[in-house]
Amino acid sequence: MNFDRKTFLRSMGLGALGLITARALPGMEAEPDSSNGLPIWDDANPEAFWREVRAQFPMTPRRTYFNTGGLGPASRRVLDMYTVASRQLQERVETGHDFFAQARVIVAQYLSAKTDSVCFVRNATEGNCVVATGIELQAADEVILDSHAHPGGSFPWLNRQRTEGIVVKTFEPDPLSAAGNLERIAALITHRTRVIQVSHITSPTGIIMPVAEIGKLAEKHHAWFHVDGAQSAGMIPVNMATLGCDSFATSGHKWIGGPHETGLLWIRASKMDQIIPRQVGAYSSIDVDLNNPGPFVYSQGAHRFEYGTRNAASVLALAEAMRFQNEIGRDRIAARGHALADQVRAGLQKIDSVEILTPADPALCGSIVTFRSPKLVYGKIFERLLADHHLRTRPVAEVGLDAIRVSTHLFNSREECDRLVGAVGEVLAKA
Ligand SMILES: Cc1ncc(COP(=O)(O)O)c(C=O)c1O
Repeated sequence: MNFDRKTFLRSMGLGALGLITARALPGMEAEPDSSNGLPIWDDANPEAFWREVRAQFPMTPRRTYFNTGGLGPASRRVLDMYTVASRQLQERVETGHDFFAQARVIVAQYLSAKTDSVCFVRNATEGNCVVATGIELQAADEVILDSHAHPGGSFPWLNRQRTEGIVVKTFEPDPLSAAGNLERIAALITHRTRVIQVSHITSPTGIIMPVAEIGKLAEKHHAWFHVDGAQSAGMIPVNMATLGCDSFATSGHKWIGGPHETGLLWIRASKMDQIIPRQVGAYSSIDVDLNNPGPFVYSQGAHRFEYGTRNAASVLALAEAMRFQNEIGRDRIAARGHALADQVRAGLQKIDSVEILTPADPALCGSIVTFRSPKLVYGKIFERLLADHHLRTRPVAEVGLDAIRVSTHLFNSREECDRLVGAVGEVLAKA
C-alpha cells in the first residue's frame, strides 16, 4: 500500500468508525495490498508509463477489451477499496453511512461541483430518471432528445409520454459540426419546449455535443437542460461549473473505472427545488416527529435523492477510482484515449469497404471509433472479432447503424489497437 493511499484510507476512516484502517484494528487481519504505485510520467517514454497503468488492472489476458463505453474495468486499487470496505463494514455490522459525506467531497472535486449538488445513484439511468420523473410537466409539454440517446436516457421520457402525454421530439446528431447540432435542436424548439436533453458524448458513434452552446440555447428558451454524461465523465474531464447544464448524470462503472452499480447525479443548486424527489426515505428529509408533524422539508442539497441503506463500499471505491484518475492526470487520460482511437481510425481507414461513422474533427470526437462495412453484418463482425481474435468490441444495432463500436481507454495499448485493426482486415477479407 503506498503512502498516499494509506493516508487516504486513514482519513476516510477517522472521525467515523476507524474503518478501512485494518492494520490499526486489534484482532483484524492485515489487508493485502495488490496495487503498485504509479511511475513518474516521462515525456521520453510514455509507453512505459501506460504499461504500468495497465498492470494495475486485473483483467483477463485471454481477451482484449475495447468496450469501456459499455462497462469499464476497475483497477486493483478500486477493487481493494471495495473489498476491504465491504468486509470491514460487514465485520462490524455497520452501514458506514458517514462515508457518503466523505466520498462526496472527492466526487464533487472530480466534477468541479459544489459538494451539496451531487448525489450517489446506482447508474446513469437512475440519475436520468430522477430528473425525468421529478420535473413538473403538463400533457403536451415538449422534451427534445438526440435520437442516439441510450435507453437509459430516452426511456424515462418515453415513459412520461406514455403515462402523462408529454411529447418527445428527437433530432439526429450531426457528425459534421457543432453548429449543425445547435441548428437541429433550435429547429425543434416551440413555445411548449420544457426540456432539452443530450448525450454529452453519444453512445453509438461517440459524437461530442456542444453542451455549453446548447445550454445557452436552452436558457434563452427557459427550458431545463439535462446532460446524460454516461460516456463523458472519465473519458474527458467534465466541469459542472462551466458545462452550462442544469443537471448531469453519469455512470461510475464506465470510463471512471468505479465498481459496478455506481453513478452520480449533479443538479444546479439554484434549481434543485425544481426536481421533485419521487422516491424518498431516511436521509431525504430532516427527522419528522409523526406524533407532532410539521412540514415535510427536504434535506439540504442533492442527497435528498438518496434514501435508505446504501452500499458505502461502492461509493468509497468510486472515490478511489477518481483519485486514481487524478493521479494519472485526467487530461493525460483523455489525450491517451483519443490518440489510441485515432490510431484505430487511421488503420481502419486503410481497409477497403470500411466506413467510419465517428467524426474525425477533434472537437467532435474522443475515445470512441465506430465503423461498419457493407461486406459483413455488424453482428458477424462482432462475433468473429470475439471468437477468432479474442477482441471484445460492442455491436451497434441502434437506429439501424449496423456498426461496431471500439472504445479505447487508459489501459489499452498501441499494440492492441494494431491487433484490432489487423483482425478487422482479416475478418472482412474472409467475408
Ligand atoms: C449515453 C448513455 N446513457 C445511459 C447509459 C446507461 O448507463 P447505466 O447502465 O449506467 O445506467 C449508457 C450506457 O451505455 C449510455 O451510453
